[in-house]
Amino acid sequence: MDFQTNIFQQFGEKWALVTAGDKEDFNTMTVSWGGLGTIWNKPVATVYVRTVRYTHEFMDKSEYFTVSFYPSEYKKILGVLGARSGREMDKKNNSGLTPRFLADSVTFEEAEVTLLCRKLFRQRIDPENIPSDIQATFYEGDAPHDMYIGEVVEIIQ
Ligand SMILES: Cc1cc2nc3c(=O)[nH]c(=O)nc-3n(C[C@H](O)[C@H](O)[C@H](O)COP(=O)(O)O)c2cc1C
Repeated sequence: MDFQTNIFQQFGEKWALVTAGDKEDFNTMTVSWGGLGTIWNKPVATVYVRTVRYTHEFMDKSEYFTVSFYPSEYKKILGVLGARSGREMDKKNNSGLTPRFLADSVTFEEAEVTLLCRKLFRQRIDPENIPSDIQATFYEGDAPHDMYIGEVVEIIQ
C-alpha cells in the first residue's frame, strides 16, 4: 500500500467523498475534515460526520466505508454532493459520478485514489471538550460530529 500526499491539502483543499453502503443502497457526501495516521498499529483514516447527515445512517450500519479523492475537474460535483442531501436528490443514480461497487463498499470510477476502510471506532465529539470559540463557531444550533476511525485495508488507485 503506497500513497504519497500533503495530508493538509488533501482534505482541506482538495476535499473528498465519504461513501458507505452497498450495491443495493449507499450514500455519499463531501468532506474537507479528516486525517490519515496510525492507531492500534494500523494505518487509519479518520472522518467527522455530523449526526444529521444521511450518510451518517450508512456509516453506522456498514462495516466498511470509503474515502475517495478526485481530480480538480470534479470539484464542482463535490460541491453539489456537499450541498445537497441524498434525502432530497438521488445520489445513487444522479451524482454526476459513476458508482464502482467493491466487495465491501462503494466508490466512484472517477476517483484518483480510494481508501477502503474497515470501521474500527465511532465516538461523538462532545462540544464541552472543545475551546469555546470553536464550540461557538461549529456547534451552536448545529448537530454534533461523530468521529469514525477506519483501518485502511486497501488503497485503490
Ligand atoms: C467542502 C465541504 C466540506 C464538507 N465537510 C464536511 C465534513 O467534514 N463533515 C460533515 O459532516 N459534513 C461536511 N460537509 C457537508 C456535507 O457534505 C453536506 O451536508 C451533504 O449535503 C450531506 O449529504 P447527505 O445528507 O446526503 O449525507 C461538507 C460540505 C462541503 C461543501
